[in-house]
Order: sequence, then C-alpha cells, then structure tokens
Amino acid sequence: MNNKIDISNKDRSYKIFDSIYAKYDLLNRLLSFGQDIFWRNRICKLPKKKENQILLDLATGTGDILFSFLKKREDIKFTIGLDMSINMLHIAKIKSIKKNFNKKSSFIRGDANLIPLTTEKVDFATMAFGIRNITEPVIVLKDIKRVLKTGGKAIILEFSLPKSKIMKFFFLFYLRKIVPLVGRIVSGDKFAYRYLNETIEDFPYGKDFCRLMEDAGFSNISATPLTFGIATIYQGEKIDKTN
Ligand SMILES: C[S@@+](CC[C@H](N)C(=O)[O-])C[C@H]1O[C@@H](n2cnc3c(N)ncnc32)[C@H](O)[C@@H]1O
Repeated sequence: MNNKIDISNKDRSYKIFDSIYAKYDLLNRLLSFGQDIFWRNRICKLPKKKENQILLDLATGTGDILFSFLKKREDIKFTIGLDMSINMLHIAKIKSIKKNFNKKSSFIRGDANLIPLTTEKVDFATMAFGIRNITEPVIVLKDIKRVLKTGGKAIILEFSLPKSKIMKFFFLFYLRKIVPLVGRIVSGDKFAYRYLNETIEDFPYGKDFCRLMEDAGFSNISATPLTFGIATIYQGEKIDKTN
C-alpha cells in the first residue's frame, strides 16, 4: 500500500494511521523513550477541578489522553474521543473495555475540522499530536472554541523544536535518521514515520502557534515547553460566547 502523502495536503493523513494502528502505541513508547506518558500526565493536571466535567479529545487515536484523564481525575464525568481513523478508534474501543472505562467514554469517527457536536457542549478539549496533521489549524481551533462552554479550555500538545542549538541538532538528527528507520522496521510502513517527522519540522510552534490560537479567538494563551522543547503544551481559554 502506498501511503506517501504530500505534507502540503494533510487531509488524508489519517490513512497513514489506518495502516500503522497495530504498532502505534508500541512505537510511541519506543520513539519517545516513554516521555509521551509523562507529557500526557502533565496535561491531566491542567484543567481546574470541577464536578461532572465533559472532555472532548480530538485526534484521539488509540485514546491514551482519555484514559489518562479517566484514571487520574474523578471529576471527569464523560469523555468523547474523535478521530478519522477507524482502525485507531477500534484499538481505542478495545482498550476502553479492557480498562473498564467503556461506560465513561464514547468514540466517534469524525473530522476535527467539523466537530459533530453542538455549540457549548464540553468543559475542555484536548488534542495531542493531532493539530500538525491538519492543513488549516485555525479552522480546527475555531471549531474547538465553538464546542467549548464559556470558561472552558483548549489544551494542545504538539511537537516543537528545542531552542538550544545543540539540542536542536541532536533532535533533528534523531527525527531525520532514527525515527524513519525504527518506524519502518517496526510498523513495516515505508513512508509513515518519514511523513511524521517532516510534519514536525514544518509546523509552527511556540509564539507562532500561540498566534494561531489568538486568531481563533482564545484568551489567556500560554505555551509550556517540555523535555528541552521537543514538545509544547499550549493552553487557551474561551472567555466569551462569541464563536
Ligand atoms: C499522531 S496521532 C495522535 C493520537 C493520540 N492523540 C496520541 O496522543 O497518541 C494523530 C491522529 O490524528 C488523526 N487525524 C488525522 N487527521 C484528522 C482529522 N482531520 N480529524 C480527526 N482526526 C484526525 C489520525 O487518524 C491519528 O489517529
């Protein structure tokens, strides 16, 4: 199967995940040296405690963000995971049954550009390593703002590049040489992990991404670099009803 995808047109990028779904979790742990767990756990501490919260996780993949929240936060009443890849969602559903979270989670196949939820529906929304697979991130950010309740928060986790020149050199070497090689060996897909690293180098991060959140109408925006800046958590609040 030819999964070569033009990074200027990311609309079909979910098809990559439909092909590598079986090895996705393993490769996440391997390639991030377990850091992905630490990053997700950081996210779980961010939303304020409030009873009966509803969480929407966009580009949920195999559901790890949802499961981290359900494990750590008793104030989460219900979670909704949205993704375009049927196979990634299939793994998420199996995991939710195994972890006994199936009564508190639902998974929907859908496009983050057009979230199939009514306005002011969720208390907070997360998107981890998904936004850089989107051609027009501001469209998704605006739709996240639409479905958030007033006072709600968007939390975006995405790869970024370290500020330190030496760290950036090593990270780019790792991205360009090691990630595609290990990705190809473990997943058996020639293009997937090359595409994934190309999108990292190409994507706005730090202040540039904060500007996109501003354009989408978010307030109190912040960027928190993690692990030498190879990933960043962005937060923004919806403080008024305007969409
Ligand atoms: C790198 S994975 C991230 C999965 C998960 N959030 C995690 O942290 O492991 C990116 C996910 O984005 C999904 N995706 C790509 N384009 C999408 C879109 N337009 N709408 C919803 N999901 C999309 C893919 O199917 C894939 O599951």
